[in-house]
Amino acid sequence: MTKSIPILVLGGTGTVGSRVANQLRGAGHSVRVATRRAECRFDWSIPETWRPALNGVHTMYVLLPDQTSMPESFMREAYRTGVRRVVLHSDRGVDVMNVAHLQEAERQVRESGCEWTIVRPDWFNQDFETFFRQSVLDGRLCVPIGSTRQGFVDADDIAAVAAQALLRREHIGRVLPLTGPRALSFPEALDHIQDATGLTVHFDGTPGAYREVLRAEGVPDEVIDTLIENFSSVAAQGDAKPTGIVEEILQRPGKDFSTYAQEAAARGVWQKP
Ligand SMILES: NC(=O)c1ccc[n+]([C@@H]2O[C@H](COP(=O)([O-])OP(=O)(O)OC[C@H]3O[C@@H](n4cnc5c(N)ncnc54)[C@H](OP(=O)(O)O)[C@@H]3O)[C@@H](O)[C@H]2O)c1
Repeated sequence: MTKSIPILVLGGTGTVGSRVANQLRGAGHSVRVATRRAECRFDWSIPETWRPALNGVHTMYVLLPDQTSMPESFMREAYRTGVRRVVLHSDRGVDVMNVAHLQEAERQVRESGCEWTIVRPDWFNQDFETFFRQSVLDGRLCVPIGSTRQGFVDADDIAAVAAQALLRREHIGRVLPLTGPRALSFPEALDHIQDATGLTVHFDGTPGAYREVLRAEGVPDEVIDTLIENFSSVAAQGDAKPTGIVEEILQRPGKDFSTYAQEAAARGVWQKP
């Protein structure tokens, strides 16, 4: 692959995408990050912004923001402008949780005519510093998933796998479900954060507690019902089994949650303002 031809990174300023861009740059590749606020402006809802981002690109990484669908014409436009390889960031729970917009994006990528790889990560370790950060600081986290063990995986490892899939041929046509090296329940993950920070965080994995928290935030009951149903499908799967794909592709151990917790605490992510 010619290093001077830019690799397009959509979503390249977020948790995973920024790491993908950094890792590609670190390997000497030219990278074009395109988002609403990046130097190369790209907005999923404004088709006129797509062509300038796609111009001259052969390889692209696609990360859709939460709840955002891939417009039907996008992959056609990408193929027409010369894109021939795409790595799509999806979700390990795409089928279990029935994430329709990601199922649809996967289909569009598979049918695009491009060489493709689909990366399906489990929960990110970094969720504890984004979605769950305030709950960690408040000392109470509610996720209606009981104490089943989840495959928390580090964003650095997700990005490293995506970078390999962008750069190497052997992952073409693969769907890659990514987990960390061991599955952990939420209470077990929080234990590591407590060890690293000295904070005390109580976990409640019941639907009732979750409903109460979301109601207080003004979330409509029908939305809460769907979320609880989706989480209960994940819980019904039982403990996640580590897939070993991070280790297979990176030829090194994946980052353990305890290491993540120590590093994130040292970065000050759970310091109270
Ligand atoms: N969190 C998890 O545990 C988990 C697990 C599995 C899969 N996922 C999936 O991972 C994805 C989220 O990844 P992330 O947390 O790394 O994302 P993120 O940090 O929220 O970043 C989102 C990126 O998308 C860009 N963006 C937002 N709106 C846009 C728009 N209208 N047009 C173009 N770009 C836009 C943002 O930049 P600008 O604001 O500058 O536009 C940013 O670069 C979702 O698809 C989610 O379903 C999440």
